[in-house]
Amino acid sequence: MTDSIRFLMCAPNHYDVDYVINPWMEGNVHKSSRDRAVEQWEKLYHVLKDKAIVDLVAPQKGWPDMVFTANAGLVFGNIFVLSRFYHKERQGEEPYFKEWFEKQGYTVYELPKDLPFEGAGDALLDREGRWLWAGYGFRSELDSHPYLAKWLNIEVISLRLSDERFYHLDTCFCPLTGGYLLYYPPAFDSYSNKVIEMRVAPEKLIAIEESDAINFACNAVNIDKIVVMNKVSDRLKTRLAKVGFEVIETPLTEFLKAGGAAKCLTLRVTEPVQADRRENVMVESRTIRMEGHLLDSGLISRALDLIVENGGSFQVLNFNLGEQRQSTSSADVKVSAPSHEIMEEIISLLIDLGAVPPPQEICDANLEPVIQDGVGPDDFYVSTIYPTEVRVNCQWVKVENQRMDGAIAITETPEGIKAKCKILRDLKVGEKVVVDVVGIRTIRKAESREQRNSQEFSFMSGSVSSERRVELVVEQVAWELRQIRDRGGKVVVTAGPVVIHTGGSEHLTHLIREGYVQVLLGGNAIAVHDMEQSTMGTSLGVDMKRGVAVRGGHRHHLKLINSIRRYGSIAKAVEAGFITSGVMYECIKNKIPFSLAGSIRDDGPLPDTQMDLIKAQEEYAELLRGADMILMLSSMLHSIGVGNMTPAGVKMVCVDINPAVVTKLSDRGSIESIGVVTDVGLFLSLLVNQLDKLTSRYNVAQTV
Ligand code: ARG
Repeated sequence: MTDSIRFLMCAPNHYDVDYVINPWMEGNVHKSSRDRAVEQWEKLYHVLKDKAIVDLVAPQKGWPDMVFTANAGLVFGNIFVLSRFYHKERQGEEPYFKEWFEKQGYTVYELPKDLPFEGAGDALLDREGRWLWAGYGFRSELDSHPYLAKWLNIEVISLRLSDERFYHLDTCFCPLTGGYLLYYPPAFDSYSNKVIEMRVAPEKLIAIEESDAINFACNAVNIDKIVVMNKVSDRLKTRLAKVGFEVIETPLTEFLKAGGAAKCLTLRVTEPVQADRRENVMVESRTIRMEGHLLDSGLISRALDLIVENGGSFQVLNFNLGEQRQSTSSADVKVSAPSHEIMEEIISLLIDLGAVPPPQEICDANLEPVIQDGVGPDDFYVSTIYPTEVRVNCQWVKVENQRMDGAIAITETPEGIKAKCKILRDLKVGEKVVVDVVGIRTIRKAESREQRNSQEFSFMSGSVSSERRVELVVEQVAWELRQIRDRGGKVVVTAGPVVIHTGGSEHLTHLIREGYVQVLLGGNAIAVHDMEQSTMGTSLGVDMKRGVAVRGGHRHHLKLINSIRRYGSIAKAVEAGFITSGVMYECIKNKIPFSLAGSIRDDGPLPDTQMDLIKAQEEYAELLRGADMILMLSSMLHSIGVGNMTPAGVKMVCVDINPAVVTKLSDRGSIESIGVVTDVGLFLSLLVNQLDKLTSRYNVAQTV
C-alpha cells in the first residue's frame, strides 16, 4: 500500500440519474440500478483501498452526483479550491465539500460567484507536478484559470473541450506517471491539440480511439504504474503494458449512465507539490465596447458566438439596452482567450463587427516599418472589406483603397497622415504598416431588425434555393440593376464559360446592349467560347441549338483562337466583320471595357488575354473601382479574386450551381452579398425577363 497517496470518495447511498446535465444522462433518468451501483462502487473502493488510503465524505440526500468527488474542487498541497458548479443541480454539493476540507485543515479558496469551475474534473496536475492542465468549454470558465495559477503558484495550461460527450477534462485526458499522457485528441480543438503536442513528447502521448474513449478509458485512476478504469480494449491494454502500466478493469457501467467512471468517483487529496514552480497563465483578457442595434440586429449574439467559437470566453460587464426601436444599445464585454495569438484572432473578428475599445483604453495603432520591398512585418494587421480607421498620433485616420487581405500602410505626407490598404507586393521600404489589433476600428452601418430580416431573405447560399426564391432574388436584382443604370452607376459582370454553355449568352448580350453592364471581367475561356458560338454555333464543340457534339467540333475553339490571333485582337476581328454577334461583340460595339485574366490551362491564348497575372490583377482592380454592383456568374476563381478586391458596401450577386462556391463568396460576411444557387443560364433568362417587365411597366406609366 502506498501510504502517502490518499483519495476521497463518497458512497452511492443517494446516487441516481435524477436529471440531465450531460449527454450520457439523456435517456437514463432513473434507469440505473442502485444495487448494482453500490456493488460497482464497492469494488472500485476495494481496488483503491488496496493501494492507497481512501477517505469518505458523507453522502447527502438530494445530491445524487455527490458520488463524483472529483468535482468537489481542486487539491494542491494544503490548498483546496472549492468548485463552483455550472449547473444548479449540483451547486448544493458545495457546502458539504467545503466543510469536509475545512475540517481536514485545508486552506479553502473560493472563486467569485458566477465563475464556474468544476474542480479536479476540469483541472489535472501533470503527474510530476510541473504544471496544471485545465479544461474549459463546458463546465469551467476560462476566467477561472488565472485564479488557479495565482493561488497555486503554478503554470496553468488551458485546453478547450469541444465534444459535448467529453464535457470534463478528466473524461478524455489522463496524465500518467512518468510524464505519459492518455488522451482522446478529437475531444479538443485544434489549438489545444497543438498545445498538448508541444508539451508532451510524442513517445509519451497515448492517443486512444473513440471506442475506448466512450468506455471512459481516460477516466482512469493512476497510482504509480497501475491504471484503474471501467473497461479497456486489448489494443490499449497492450499499448499501456508496453510502457510499463498495468490496467485494472473494474466495471462502472451504472455510473457511466451519469457520465462518470473511475476517476470521477475519486478525488486525490495528496497531490505532489514541486518547490520550483512559477505562476504562469497564458490566458489574456481585454474589454471591448459594442454599440448599435445590438439586440435587434443580432449583433451582440454574433459577437458572443464568435468569441466562443474561436476558443475564447466572455463576460458581459454592462449592457445598456436602448428602449425604443430606434435607440441603440451599448455593451462592454470582457473577452478572455487562452493565448495572445487567439486573443488577436478574436479581437480582429470583433473589430469587423464594429467593436471598439472602451474610451479609457483607446490608444494609437502599433506601427512597424517595412524593411524589405514587398514584405510586411510578421504581425501585420490583415485588412478586411469593411471601412476601416486607424489611430495615428491620437487621431482616427480613414483607410483608403479598402480591400481585404492587404496590409494598412501609413505614410506621412505634407497634407497629413495617410493610411492605405496595400497588397503585400506593393509595400515599399520607408512605409509603416499597422501591426497587432489595437487602434483599429471599422465603421459599420447600423444594422437594424429590418436589415437582418432582409438579409435572411436575400442570402440563400445555405441551401439550394427553391425556384420561387430564385425568382424573388431575380426581382430584387432586376430592380437594383434598373436603378443603377438609370442613375448612371456602374455594374461589373464577372463571368465564366458556363454562361455560354448554359445558353446564357443571348441574355448577357441583351444586358450589355441595354446598358446594364459597364465592365466585363473574365478569363480566356469565356471569350473563346462566346466567339466560337457566334462564329460556328458551337461552344467547346457542342452545338448550342441541338445540344449535341458536332463531328470535329473539339477543334472549333482552337480554330477560333487561331483566327483571332490572325486579326490581332478581338476588337480588330469585330472591325473586320469576322465577329458579328455575342458577348465580346457587344462589349466592343458598346465600348464596354473588359479584362481577360489568363491561367495555366488557357489554350491560345487570345491576344487580349492578360497572361501576366500581376498585371491582370491590376487591371481588374482598376476596372472594379467605383462599382455599385457586381454580378458574379459561374466563375469561382475570377469571382473570388474580385471579392478580395472589393470593399463592403458594393452589392455582390453570386450565381453558381455549386453551393460551395456561393458559400465561399458569402463568407466575406458582407450583408450586401446575395448568393443564388441555380443554373446561370436560367438565372440570366429570368433576369432579362424581369427587366423587360419593368421596362414595359415603365413605358405604360410614361404614356398614361
Ligand atoms: N453527472 C455528473 C455531471 O454531469 C457526472 C460528473 C462526472 N465527473 C467527472 N469528474 N467527470 O456533473
